[in-house]
Amino acid sequence: MTKLLKTILFISFLLLPQIAQSNISSNQFDESISIENPGAELWRNVRQRDGIFEGTSQSQSTDANFLINITGEAWRQYRMLDLIPKAGIALLVSLIGVLLFRVIRGNILLEAGRSGIKILRFSTSQRVIHWVTAILFIILSLTGLLLLFGRSFLIPMMGAEAFSYFAVGAKFLHDYLGPAFAVSLVLLFIFFIKGNMPSLKQDLAWLAKGGGMLGRHASADRYNAGEKGWFWIAAFVGGAIVVSGFVLDFPIFGQSRETMELFHVIHTIAATLIVIASIGHIYMGTIAMDGTFEVMKTGYCDSNWAKEHHDLWYEKQLAAGKVPAQKTPTKSS
Ligand code: HEM
Repeated sequence: MTKLLKTILFISFLLLPQIAQSNISSNQFDESISIENPGAELWRNVRQRDGIFEGTSQSQSTDANFLINITGEAWRQYRMLDLIPKAGIALLVSLIGVLLFRVIRGNILLEAGRSGIKILRFSTSQRVIHWVTAILFIILSLTGLLLLFGRSFLIPMMGAEAFSYFAVGAKFLHDYLGPAFAVSLVLLFIFFIKGNMPSLKQDLAWLAKGGGMLGRHASADRYNAGEKGWFWIAAFVGGAIVVSGFVLDFPIFGQSRETMELFHVIHTIAATLIVIASIGHIYMGTIAMDGTFEVMKTGYCDSNWAKEHHDLWYEKQLAAGKVPAQKTPTKSS
């Protein structure tokens, strides 16, 4: 008898989930049964900031009386569905643009080759400030891009847990190096503004000739219109990144969540723009133009490089007696 009872109990235990499931399915669409969630009205009020929760918090901080930030969901949706995909497309298009330019134009060589005569173009302090800014910029760009696109690209590749280590590290570097970049950007502005002021006639003539890419030589002074454009993008867009970054980095000045959401969007758009512009600058400053990288590396440019890319500046250096008459001895010669 006990054995029979045990068997019945065991079978009913096995069948229990099926019985429960059939009960759930039969009740699921029975609209006549209406169970009012006692918390629904409460949370509706909270979501709509219906007054009842205002002024009840002990905390004096901004937004402390609101349990739910209803604009947060709108911001999240915009970030995930609009901002990130558009930023990704813009970056991809600019990379393809640089690649096409490379395929069409190839290496831009010095027509007259190198003279071996070196002219001083950048002081040591200018080069130090340039490279400190560049290194900080690259770290901030890479960590920023990881925070922006990591979820979509890295989580499927490495899993959420491994990604979380990268994300925490990236956020740490990004948060702490941002203020250092702000300081270096101000110094860069001060040390490079000379020569970067617009001179409309010259700059428009340079642009009309496509910067010399269309076959005709384009005259330029110390900096050409393209370089000036980069300088002012770095100053203004970089400035917007720095200001918005401070609003996000230090949420202790009474800024509301809405303010931070707005500045987050400004930060992301400005960062995307400057990264796009920097792709052009880095390409032109490294593999595109023969003899350009060594200028920022050593501080000196070849006199033929100066004649071909900055002829007006070269003339001024010549007139000021700053162009040596002979080849500058190198380590190998
Ligand atoms: C790996 C990254 C970078 C490389 C390889 C690079 C390379 C160069 C080179 C070779 C020059 C000399 C051009 C000439 O003599 O005419 C230059 C100039 C300059 N770079 Fe960079 N750069 C980098 C990143 C940056 C960044 C991140 C900034 C600012 C945020 C910057 C700002 C400038 C400025 C202001 C000049 C002077 C020319 C001008 O005013 O446009 N660079 N760079």
